[in-house]
Amino acid sequence: MARGDAQVQREAMTSPARQAEAGTRTWRVIPAPHATSLDEADAWAYRGIAEVESAAAIEEFGDDDIAPRAIDVLVGMNHQDYIRRERLVAVVADPDRAPRVVGHGVLFLPMADNRHRADVRVVVSPKHRRRGIGTALYEPLRRRAQEEGRTTLLGDVDFAAEPDAGAPDALRPPSGNGSVSAALPGVAFARRAGLDLELVGRRSVLDLPLPDGAAERFEAEARGAAGEAYRTHTWVDEIPDAWIDQYAALEERLSMDEPNGGLDLEPEHWDATRTREVLARIAERGQGFVVTVAEHVPTGELAGMTQLVYVRDRLAFTDQESTVVLPAHRGHRLGMLVKAVNLQAHARLRPATRRIYTWNNEDNAHMLAINVALGFRPAGGSAEMQAKLADLPAR
Ligand SMILES: CC(C)(COP(=O)(O)OP(=O)(O)OC[C@H]1O[C@@H](n2cnc3c(N)ncnc32)[C@H](O)[C@@H]1OP(=O)(O)O)[C@@H](O)C(=O)NCCC(=O)NCCS
Repeated sequence: MARGDAQVQREAMTSPARQAEAGTRTWRVIPAPHATSLDEADAWAYRGIAEVESAAAIEEFGDDDIAPRAIDVLVGMNHQDYIRRERLVAVVADPDRAPRVVGHGVLFLPMADNRHRADVRVVVSPKHRRRGIGTALYEPLRRRAQEEGRTTLLGDVDFAAEPDAGAPDALRPPSGNGSVSAALPGVAFARRAGLDLELVGRRSVLDLPLPDGAAERFEAEARGAAGEAYRTHTWVDEIPDAWIDQYAALEERLSMDEPNGGLDLEPEHWDATRTREVLARIAERGQGFVVTVAEHVPTGELAGMTQLVYVRDRLAFTDQESTVVLPAHRGHRLGMLVKAVNLQAHARLRPATRRIYTWNNEDNAHMLAINVALGFRPAGGSAEMQAKLADLPAR
């Protein structure tokens, strides 16, 4: 962290009076020390952040599939060209051991584009909530976002299930698509801080293995509709150099076209360098990926792609990442084609995997329709909260 450190440290030492009222052991908020490897003594902070994330995920979802691991935190901190990160941890001192992390906060500052924006994430271990720790982590980060000249603050809150239709605490975004409980701790916390619900994302899960022949049938139907003008290529852990520029163009298109409701997001700029950077980080985090693209044969243009990413030593689940089809090639079932082919490649590579997760904005009707047809079922989502920084009250 740069110039905010001294300020954060000073504030951290004056923990809120509420903590004494609550009669808890003493905690304080400090900048997370940076370790360049998980073997270093200072890596306690990144390990602690992962433990807090895991405990919070288990509390909400019953498992920690969604939680970042210590290696994810480390790799993000070691590579900040595209997104700078400022991290705070709430710690309880332990005289015999490294400090115990009971909460963490992180500010993500996009550097290549979207420089008007800062994304904040605050997580407190379930046993330590409602003692002011979340606020003590959030406030300095909000101020840092402002000091950095950012104007929009975003935060998302993951949840395991939408409220029942008509539930009195159900909160809907302006689009009316999807809902979240206003009583969810993260939503209550963010609204109190002045952020509004802008969009609801749907998390879906596909149970594996698929019924015998299902992916093959989807592929055959989609190939029938797409015709001879398109062929697919599938790549594992690499994007061949000959295709990297076109692949980057697909990522850029996705950032332009994905429906984002009222979220204040600019299109991202993608090129071969950025794509290689992302792929290198996947490898560094101990992850692998499989990609299927559709090539428009007459022009040699990449018309669409889809990517599945998995943690090599966690066989149970895989994450569905980007899927996109260029506007000129939509309407030919290419989204279904690349997904059906990729699922078969994934089944050959990772036969023991039991589920695939995907995230879609509730406004993204076409993508949701493909996923529902493939057998994805709703499994909660994320509430995307947003505010103009100038409108936020200081506490
Ligand atoms: C959201 C979260 C970080 C809050 O941490 P915390 O340490 O409990 O927060 P604080 O004690 O500082 O709460 C500040 C205020 O937020 C509101 N709030 C927080 N949790 C709430 C809840 N469960 N229900 C209603 N209001 C709540 C209250 O107004 C609270 O003030 P009060 O306790 O005086 O009434 C914590 O619940 C959490 O980790 N949730 C899961 C992760 C998440 O959703 N993070 C938000 C993503 S950015």
